[in-house]
Amino acid sequence: MGRTIGFIGAGKIVDIMLGALGPALSGDELWVWNRTASRSEALASRYPVRVAPSIRELAERSDWLFIAVKPHAVAKVLSEACLHVKEDALVVSMAAGVTIDSIKAHFAAPPAIVRIMPNLPLSVGHGMTAICPDPAVRPDDVESLLTLFSTVGRARLVEERLFDTVTALSGSGPAFAFLFIESMADGAVLNGMDRTQAYEFAAQTVMGAAKIILESAKHPGELKDIVASPAGTTMAGIHSLERKAFRAIVMDAVDAAARRSRELNG
Ligand SMILES: NC(=O)c1ccc[n+]([C@@H]2O[C@H](COP(=O)([O-])OP(=O)(O)OC[C@H]3O[C@@H](n4cnc5c(N)ncnc54)[C@H](OP(=O)(O)O)[C@@H]3O)[C@@H](O)[C@H]2O)c1
Repeated sequence: MGRTIGFIGAGKIVDIMLGALGPALSGDELWVWNRTASRSEALASRYPVRVAPSIRELAERSDWLFIAVKPHAVAKVLSEACLHVKEDALVVSMAAGVTIDSIKAHFAAPPAIVRIMPNLPLSVGHGMTAICPDPAVRPDDVESLLTLFSTVGRARLVEERLFDTVTALSGSGPAFAFLFIESMADGAVLNGMDRTQAYEFAAQTVMGAAKIILESAKHPGELKDIVASPAGTTMAGIHSLERKAFRAIVMDAVDAAARRSRELNG
């Protein structure tokens, strides 16, 4: 498509995105700047991305400028970039908790700004990306972002007021799922199964269950009822989970992560 795309930051998420989105970005020119130069050079040795010598040069070139540094560093990098961002550029921020208004405040004449929240599973083509464009973002840029992130999973428009929720649900969610899978496997190991096999069975089971929800559009409770036959093994397990307030524990985890996201922004 021939855009120039710049990344400020060369951390884990940019590494994951360059790895996963590479084919979809093959027509674009890619540039990266990072505070620690060795990290951007490491990316340039693995992906077709060039290292910009300064934020200024990166900003001057970029049609799309991704902000991918830790939330506390966003103000600093924007203060260096703001005078050099092209008038018609799209600024794409991935920083958790940093609002569109706080990004706009760095500019005398703000460019188009969009907030996104991708997640780790995009590295295996099953990502979930939330996208919130400022009204000034051109519809074709919104479409291009939705299309780009749909090449590595699902992408949906989400109102900005829900971004702390999305950060908790799909951003932190993979870690909660890893914990659940590890615990399921531990239960199987406790009952004599080899650990490697237990991880495979647990992970495939969770993936299959998730797929049914996405593909059948059935209520999770209805699907649970299909598995749980009267006086059966599943009902015994569900009873144990419910006695220990499993649902409340999981709801609390998502709520705590959303609260932490709001705190980081506050
Ligand atoms: N990882 C995810 O799954 C994920 C998902 C969605 C959104 N995000 C967001 O993406 C951003 C980067 O996350 P990450 O996981 O890639 O983190 P990371 O691997 O820890 O990388 C952090 C990046 O921030 C830079 N940075 C930190 N302090 C800085 C400062 N004072 N000045 C300039 N740069 C600074 C680091 O530069 P150095 O290399 O010089 O330290 C590095 O490029 C965060 O805002 C996070 O909320 C991450």
